[in-house]
Amino acid sequence: MYKEELAQLFDDVFKKLVLEITPILNPTKEGHFGDLQCNNIFQCAKLLKCSPEDSARRIIEVVNGDSRAGRLIEKVIFSPPGFINIALKDQKLLEEINSVIEDKDLGIKKAVTPDRVIVEYSSPNIAKEMHVGHLRSTIIGHTLGNILEVLGFDVLRLNHIGDFGTQFGMLITYMKKLYGENPLSHIHGQKLEALTKWYREAKVCFDEDENFKEASRLEVVNLQKGEKLATSIWNEICEISRKGYREIYDLLNIKGLQERGESFYQALLPEVVSDCEERSLLKESDGANCVFLGDQFKSKSGSELPIMIQKSDGGYNYATTDIAAFKYRFSKDKVERIIIATDIGQELHFKMVFALACKLGFSENKRFDHVQFGLVLGKDKKKFKTRSGDTEKLIDLLREAIKRAEIILQKRQYQDSTLFANQEELRQAAEILGVGAVKYADLSNNRIKNYVFDYDKMLSFEGNTAPYIMYAVVRINSVLKRGCFSTFSKVTLTEDDPIKREEERMLILLLLNFSDVLHTIANDLMPNRLTDYLYELAEAFHRFYTRCPIIGSKEESSRLTLCFQVQAVLTKGLGILGIATLQKM
Ligand code: ARG
Repeated sequence: MYKEELAQLFDDVFKKLVLEITPILNPTKEGHFGDLQCNNIFQCAKLLKCSPEDSARRIIEVVNGDSRAGRLIEKVIFSPPGFINIALKDQKLLEEINSVIEDKDLGIKKAVTPDRVIVEYSSPNIAKEMHVGHLRSTIIGHTLGNILEVLGFDVLRLNHIGDFGTQFGMLITYMKKLYGENPLSHIHGQKLEALTKWYREAKVCFDEDENFKEASRLEVVNLQKGEKLATSIWNEICEISRKGYREIYDLLNIKGLQERGESFYQALLPEVVSDCEERSLLKESDGANCVFLGDQFKSKSGSELPIMIQKSDGGYNYATTDIAAFKYRFSKDKVERIIIATDIGQELHFKMVFALACKLGFSENKRFDHVQFGLVLGKDKKKFKTRSGDTEKLIDLLREAIKRAEIILQKRQYQDSTLFANQEELRQAAEILGVGAVKYADLSNNRIKNYVFDYDKMLSFEGNTAPYIMYAVVRINSVLKRGCFSTFSKVTLTEDDPIKREEERMLILLLLNFSDVLHTIANDLMPNRLTDYLYELAEAFHRFYTRCPIIGSKEESSRLTLCFQVQAVLTKGLGILGIATLQKM
């Protein structure tokens, strides 16, 4: 591929000139000469102790003298104040784009070592509503899973549901308090709303009543022993929660996510304690068993921070489960890499837990990535809340987006009554548009930063939004239809069907870049690279579409072929983001 070949060529040229830096080659900006630009000539000038112009000339001379340049480069020039611009050979670009056009995978190259990987995401807590943080985890995790899968990795998607801990003793005790020794019939068939209300009430009893607290503790023990009634109540509670989540997963079209909650690792928790003991890592602190990991983890006041492995009453902690999970996933699931998506608030937790997993020898030569993300903010730049001040429930947020999408589509239907055949068709389209807009808005922000949740912005047909990209697909569809174009009509691009037009060339270069974008994300796990790419491609398409005549021109077949490829990549890219496309909108 031209990219690797050119990078190699420049790298060798730099070495020849004893420049110990890696050349930076980026696409040129619109309106500049050439396809690529070498961006670190200023740095070269410093090292060569001459002006940028002189150092550029020396580099260009060596480039032109290299035998590989002939096939690859049409022309290379100095571009003041300190750049080298490179025009690629048409023939080279044509070769590459034609092989992408022929490739059913759109030029996406498979990973060299397609390991087994866990992507853990969503992970809500039983008896609680999913909140916006779980939305981010679900959307980001799902997209990353898709990208790794497209690249050939063997992906295991896990939903690490919070289904274990003292709160369940509390709930069981409260159910018994409300409904006596036979509460099952009262719980069965309830909704998540009822469950969260019980949870709140149970918490009050737990905090105020010592007897209730003691009874709750015993119920946790019952649960761990597998006692029948406690287990049945717990199962009912989990099932109600699951049903609530399923509604959201269906709306978000989340598939292939396997539930494996915290309780799954329960039997392995005593082992974590003995593993730590064997390595003499345990220290008692206020009756609890802790591990101190040394200087790198300190509190603000300078004291060493512990990981609490076992509470003074013998119970285990959130961290204990995560240590057990690392052990199980690396040794039993036999994965090479674990990716976990949670809010940034859990950064320290995961740093410490992974550090301990390493100390215990669970993760030798394995990779762990904590995909952390920021908060979702309201327009007031404060944590996203409903009008009544409650934390926004996820399902309401999605419904609101769909409702607004429906209003937008109604308006468009009003202008063009042939758009949707009936209300049901419009409603279905609104669901795709609304949910797609929410997902895209989330993914298009640098995940580490907080972002402002803004319905108007995310549903706008202008800018870096789902509707903009989806509309590009619709528009291309109609062009293809007008040209009676199908997969079989694809043609091989040639030098006679000019790729000399800047707009066409831009499309070709972008189409050749799709695979690299995905591979970069597989490494740094930043999904906004893909939205940025799709936005750039859609914009480049619009420029091409307005400036280059298609139907009826002498380049009709090659231009339609380009349209077809752009549409395929946009559709595939949206699909990876979990966003469906529409025929009309
Ligand atoms: N249930 C947790 C929460 O809602 C997220 C779980 C994250 N994953 C993990 N392995 N600890 O905050």
